Amino acid sequence: MKPVKNKVVIIGAGMVGSAVMNSVLGLGLVAEIVVIDNNVNKAKGETLDASHTTSFAYSPNVLLRVGDYEDCSDAQIIIMTAGPSIKPGETLDRLLLADKNVKVMNSVMASITKYTKDAIIIVVTNPVDIVTYLAQNSFDYPKEKIIGTGTLLDTARLRRILARKYLVDTKNVHGYVLGEHGGSAFATWSLVNVAGIPYNEFDKILGSKDPIDTDAILDEAKTTGLKILQLKGYTSSGIAMSVSRIVKAVLLNELSILPVSTTLDGEYGIKNVALSIPCVITSDGISKKLEVPLSPEELKKLKISAENLGKILDNLNIRK
Ligand code: 2OP
Repeated sequence: MKPVKNKVVIIGAGMVGSAVMNSVLGLGLVAEIVVIDNNVNKAKGETLDASHTTSFAYSPNVLLRVGDYEDCSDAQIIIMTAGPSIKPGETLDRLLLADKNVKVMNSVMASITKYTKDAIIIVVTNPVDIVTYLAQNSFDYPKEKIIGTGTLLDTARLRRILARKYLVDTKNVHGYVLGEHGGSAFATWSLVNVAGIPYNEFDKILGSKDPIDTDAILDEAKTTGLKILQLKGYTSSGIAMSVSRIVKAVLLNELSILPVSTTLDGEYGIKNVALSIPCVITSDGISKKLEVPLSPEELKKLKISAENLGKILDNLNIRK
């Protein structure tokens, strides 16, 4: 069935799923949000609580409810957040979740594909590159309609760290973190700029107490999610806003360029592995994967990310 309205289905009512629900609600672009969770009471509690926000001025009158996979049949966007995440005290590597969450995604995709092949699926569940690969390659679902949140969040973190160091608006910091959403992610320093000022001129033009230390800044961007997890037990706000950014780009057909995870098909000489590169996002999903210019060192790092992720896919026996 063709989507008829701005309906979003969220799979998973945990910390991430409920933060995503509230963030998508705040966009003011959606008519209906349906939440699916095995823990129906938790899903009921979350949707009921969020439904009370609709009484306030300027809140859109969204229908919020618990549902099931049949609801995917006329959804425009499905957001996958289900599956265990890393808990404080556990080894801080998202890749360790692969085994369990591949099983979760297999069952979720089997249920979604009974009802739709039209909706845009946004994959959040970690390890997001592995789960995205599975969804794009093990099911007969249009690949471009499946988008992994990937390094959109790491990019947001890098921009924020640079913005605070140089006391400028985060939105004026440009550039990307690309590759794996995890240990082998890297920053495209050759493209990082503030209002056109390249990173190696930041100290001189923007001024800072300490000279720029690119390795330390990237390390902070990469590990801050795991630090948040140790501090509050999970991460939710940053990832929820990353999802909302993609939702808005899809619903408004924005042609926005965002670093998201998708299976590469020869871009940068890489094939058959999902990782993040800048992509154009429209109402049809990923309309273009952009081979933005990378320095030879950055290209090497992208290939290391691809090799690492490829090994995990091979070990899990899910590589096509
Ligand atoms: C994050 O980076 C843990 O992947 C999650 O916030």
